[in-house]
Amino acid sequence: MILHKFKNQSELDRVAADLMLSVVRAKPNAVLGMATGGTPVGLYEEIVKSYQQGLVSFKEARTFNLDEYVGLPVSHAESYRSFMQRNLFDHIDIEPENTHVPNGNAPDIEAECRRYDEMMYQLGPIDMQLLGIGHNGHIGFNEPDTSLSRFTHKVTLKEDTREANKRFFNSLDEVPTHAVTMGMGSILHAKAILLVVKGQEKAEILDRTLNGAITTEIPASLLQTHPRVIVLTDCDVNYKL
Ligand code: GLP
Repeated sequence: MILHKFKNQSELDRVAADLMLSVVRAKPNAVLGMATGGTPVGLYEEIVKSYQQGLVSFKEARTFNLDEYVGLPVSHAESYRSFMQRNLFDHIDIEPENTHVPNGNAPDIEAECRRYDEMMYQLGPIDMQLLGIGHNGHIGFNEPDTSLSRFTHKVTLKEDTREANKRFFNSLDEVPTHAVTMGMGSILHAKAILLVVKGQEKAEILDRTLNGAITTEIPASLLQTHPRVIVLTDCDVNYKL
């Protein structure tokens, strides 16, 4: 792993965006793994700026999102499809059919998970997977557990995750209880991983991710096993080799 620390978030966003853009510039039909949440909003803004300045094109790029809520209408402002349209896809020249987000409203969720994996493995591997991290160490919606799943699957969200995401909804009751997420195997299959961690309140979980035991109780700690992980953060942490 490589750890880069930043004093301010706008500098971090710029570097994170540049890393993703460098992948698309080197390989116009790159497959990018996308993340949602508060963390990537600023870096998506930077990507849009670069596109508007004519510095990059996404005409041939493909994207796969990490996850989606189950049962939330796609049209809901907080569905991850809506999030991606609003923050990125609507502002760049990516072809709509090249953007993939799991369908959390599929009548057969198991079949949807298989479909998503098949498409991802057919078009992949993902060239660069962007990740945020939950306060409990989840990545995508792979929640801490005694075992983790390799492939895309349906998960029951932990109460602390629902609490953390409540800020995007009117009340806790509105936060979905389930989601579909890429599995750990698919995430670790990416050629490179860009983990972005913002806010000192995540310093402890980041420290455990980087320096603690590799354990399914902290899904992000499995990133220690990946050969190409770049971590960008404004947290006060160190990577102890
Ligand atoms: C969400 C998403 C994750 C995200 C994490 C942290 O629930 N499923 O992909 O990384 O939680 O979100 P935030 O960046 O808002 O802290």
